[in-house]
Amino acid sequence: MKPIKIGIAGTGVVASGVVKVLQRNQEEITRRAGRGIEVAVVSSRTRAKAEALVGQNVLIVDDIMDVARHPDIDIVVETMGGYEPARSFVLEAIAHGKHVVTANKALLAEHGNEIFAAAQAKGVTVVFEAAVAGGIPVIKSLREGLSANRIEWIAGIINGTTNFILTQMREKGWTFTDALKVAQELGYAEADPTFDVEGVDAAHKITLMSALAFGVPINFKAASIEGISQLAATDITYAEKFGYRIKLLGITKRTPEGIELRVHPTLIPDSRLIANVNGVMNAVLVKGDAVGATLYYGAGAGAEPTGSSVIADLIDVTRTITADPEHRVPHLAFQPDALANIPMLPL
Ligand code: HSE
Repeated sequence: MKPIKIGIAGTGVVASGVVKVLQRNQEEITRRAGRGIEVAVVSSRTRAKAEALVGQNVLIVDDIMDVARHPDIDIVVETMGGYEPARSFVLEAIAHGKHVVTANKALLAEHGNEIFAAAQAKGVTVVFEAAVAGGIPVIKSLREGLSANRIEWIAGIINGTTNFILTQMREKGWTFTDALKVAQELGYAEADPTFDVEGVDAAHKITLMSALAFGVPINFKAASIEGISQLAATDITYAEKFGYRIKLLGITKRTPEGIELRVHPTLIPDSRLIANVNGVMNAVLVKGDAVGATLYYGAGAGAEPTGSSVIADLIDVTRTITADPEHRVPHLAFQPDALANIPMLPL
């Protein structure tokens, strides 16, 4: 069977992880997807950068819309981040019947309802494993592994940059500023790192998990958000003296009054597993009524961990495209029509 052709918008950290892992694990990926996955088009404003990433046999275009509209492509991968032009690109790709794999949590937290509705109307898939907790397959766990459960709550360390900063401040006595600088150098931080340190990135991610877990619309505006920028080194030292670690948690919870959605620094007893999740690692606890509490742990940022999640989605979509249409499992990660009308708690 012919390989499936994909187009990638962006040549940054995530795109580089996707291309490297696709090349290195080509054999396993082909076997699992049922056919090869081939990068056919990449958009970049810097030709040399794109060529260094994909070589000379891949079409390199300046305009991302040439990826969204390219007739040979079945799936687009959006790794640009940010709201625009990512939103226009994704909507254009959907309008041209492309399936979309995105790592963009900001985009989906703000515009996901519009994007999923457009995808549903067009009969294409939008998947976003890489948008939440980097390499940890937590979206697939919510959508598939835990699909028998009524989810009660989710709580997690879902921002690698802030966990890296808090860990370096506690273990090595680094300043906040130095730790952030290293996180940026390692490619963990957002283009605008205030999204990391002020808890916005974690709020984007918990908003998406909340919608998926509880079947509510994506409602980022309902999130209560506090980051780590107001924490002093002494907060961390004193917490440790009293047997606690400070972690930035994203929390969403079903309550009789509605759904809670919040991000804030939290004191956690140091005997807890999640208190010992350090560096760029993320961990997500999900409590289901049947399964009880489950814990997912792994790298929350970085080129290859995030690339791993993007490619898992590519394999998934490839299988869906390839399946006999009569036996295709509807693959929308999220069905806006089927949303339960559970109120979000006011701030
Ligand atoms: N800036 C994000 C983080 C990247 O640090 O977790 C991965 O989503």
